[in-house]
Amino acid sequence: MSAKNELLALLRQSEGFVSGEELSRRLGVTRAAIWKNIELLRAEGYTVESVTRRGYRLRDVPDSISEAEIRANLCGHGSFGCRVVSLPSVDSTNEEAKRQGDAGAPHGSVFVADEQTGGKGRLGRRWISPPGSGLWFSILLRPDVLPNEVTGVTLLSAVAVCRGIRALTGCEAKIKWPNDVVIGTKKVCGILTELSAEMEHIHYLIPGIGVNTGTESFPPELADRATSLLLETGRPVRRAALLGKILEEFELLYDRYGVSSFPEEYRSLCVTVGRTVSLRRAGRQLVGTACGVADDGSLLVKTRSGETLTVSSGEVLVQGFYGEHIEGA
Ligand code: BTN
Repeated sequence: MSAKNELLALLRQSEGFVSGEELSRRLGVTRAAIWKNIELLRAEGYTVESVTRRGYRLRDVPDSISEAEIRANLCGHGSFGCRVVSLPSVDSTNEEAKRQGDAGAPHGSVFVADEQTGGKGRLGRRWISPPGSGLWFSILLRPDVLPNEVTGVTLLSAVAVCRGIRALTGCEAKIKWPNDVVIGTKKVCGILTELSAEMEHIHYLIPGIGVNTGTESFPPELADRATSLLLETGRPVRRAALLGKILEEFELLYDRYGVSSFPEEYRSLCVTVGRTVSLRRAGRQLVGTACGVADDGSLLVKTRSGETLTVSSGEVLVQGFYGEHIEGA
């Protein structure tokens, strides 16, 4: 660990002021070096108070996703976040996870970026990811299951995100099937899971998660479908703290359910069930009522003709969500 990060860790542990003398003794560096590193921390946005004869005290931390800040917020038992790669800018954290996955990065590695220049959404869409406005990250998993047995991972990820958002902001985050996290009727988070596999073997599985944390406003075409934690609460949330909580919840859920099943909690969080929905099937737009989520994660939809459809992919529009009005609903 660098002297700066060791100093930060010491300041974090201390309840009150710590004298320059004690810091220099504990870190084995000169008082001048302590002062220099305090200035470096201040330049990164840390608020460090200094008072004559009392020393230094950490008053506030910035919304930084530096590895040091993420490590300080990790509270799981260790496999998720065993390796954290934090980048100022990247094409897509999913692409970075794939590159590093191909190069042998271990299970549980986490890739996070301040900005994505080629962020990817579901169904080939773009995911706009400007610097500082969201938590953009991917988790590299190497589960020992067959490629067709990973149906639970995206649903499990959505539950972990809901728990993380609730814990940090108190917002009632819920899920629009399969894996959009919503607050009210607007989307706050999207999840894109990608897989590298052969017929009988998974190389790796990557849930990529994007949470709008600090977006102050959305362009008109998104304003009635997207929201951010800042817009919902009026307060900024620290991305490193949110990441730490989501990873903690992810680890708990992963240890219990693996990637082939998902928690019952998903069903109670899923706002799609019980609502009028619309979807495309064999070139036709169908309208029905979502009546449940099957054990493999598919959405069950009862059409007006009384038939029950099993929907495992594609876009399902939900009456009243994202500004949708379904004809005849
Ligand atoms: C969607 O709702 O369409 C899915 C959006 C997924 C966005 C995240 S941001 C981190 C990771 N990297 C990407 O390029 N995409 C996912």
